[in-house]
Amino acid sequence: MANITRDFFIALSNNELLNTGAKKWGFRFGAEQFVAGTDVATVLKTVKRLNDKGIHATVDNLGEFVTEPSVSLQAKNKILHLIQEIHKQGLDCHLSIKLTQLGLDIDEAFCFENVFEIVELANQYNIFINIDTEDYAHLHQTLTILHQLLENFQNVGTVIQAYLYDAEEEMDKLANARLRLVKGAYKEGPEVAYQNKEEIDANFLRLAKKRLKGNAYTSIATHDHHIINELKQFVHDENIDSNNFEFQMLYGFRTDMQHSLASEGYDFCTYIPFGEDWYAYFMRRLAERPQNLQLIIKDKLYTKDDKLKKEPIIIASSIAALGTILYACRKKRK
Ligand code: FDA
Repeated sequence: MANITRDFFIALSNNELLNTGAKKWGFRFGAEQFVAGTDVATVLKTVKRLNDKGIHATVDNLGEFVTEPSVSLQAKNKILHLIQEIHKQGLDCHLSIKLTQLGLDIDEAFCFENVFEIVELANQYNIFINIDTEDYAHLHQTLTILHQLLENFQNVGTVIQAYLYDAEEEMDKLANARLRLVKGAYKEGPEVAYQNKEEIDANFLRLAKKRLKGNAYTSIATHDHHIINELKQFVHDENIDSNNFEFQMLYGFRTDMQHSLASEGYDFCTYIPFGEDWYAYFMRRLAERPQNLQLIIKDKLYTKDDKLKKEPIIIASSIAALGTILYACRKKRK
């Protein structure tokens, strides 16, 4: 059942019609709980608020699988503006970027030029750029571009997806680069990726422990308290330098745990997505944890002290609209 729900939301995340429609609708169905606004000024206010609590941030200008060069250029310019603003405002914040937003599906050389410009500007201000990993079909090109960038810059790194069989091999090739370790968010086949949770979790832990014993900086990105607790014990037992790693979680998820890890003295970084292209990102989060939908519905219907909100009709119609879309898409897939 969990796999069916996961496949269902992943299919929704890939639906072009809904992706385009979502941009026009603006924020709907509770996406604002996980996405910090649509413009640079708003997201940087969130960064400032978290920085004031001792939390680092990484910001993601949402958007992926772009096929129009003008859209990639627009995204690049927004990211360059973001870098200027982070520097100007003196924020503790780096950037997470996706190569399919910056033209990877259009032309690899075009994409490389765009990313080069971003990493070069960020390098002037000592700001780190993380290249997020996407589906396996784009991984090889992504890593090729990263290795080329690393010939010129040190302020760039990427993400290792523990569900992939070749995760360890790729991680070892990047032993000196800053990396984020995640479980992996896309639907991949058994020819390239582990399919069951136990195997993915075991690989995540094995890779995390191997990285933590090395010298390069590692971001442990998970909401999984079992993994976090085991790694807390591991860094304690092995005397791992706390300047060598941080925990990362997504904005809007397990906020209490984010604050408690920071207050326990661990470096903590929140991944903050923003922008109009929120739909695919939001659907992947529902795929990972369908309970997120329950949280949203509860949040929409009830106030913090569990009273029914005043606009139940508007809220109920939003939820009914979501239900209709989900039902229609489910029928279409059958
Ligand atoms: P998982 O979803 O497996 O949850 C494990 C357990 O933790 C659950 O069974 C539950 O007990 C508990 N739990 C999880 N969430 C909870 C919640 N909200 N409330 C209560 N309990 C909860 N992926 C990718 O392919 N490329 C990338 O570049 C990135 N980047 C990235 C950055 C950051 C900062 C994060 C946190 C994640 C990513 N990801 C990613 C996504 C990642 O691959 C993965 O899909 C999600 O993090 C979900 O997996 P988890 O490790 O969080 O645990």
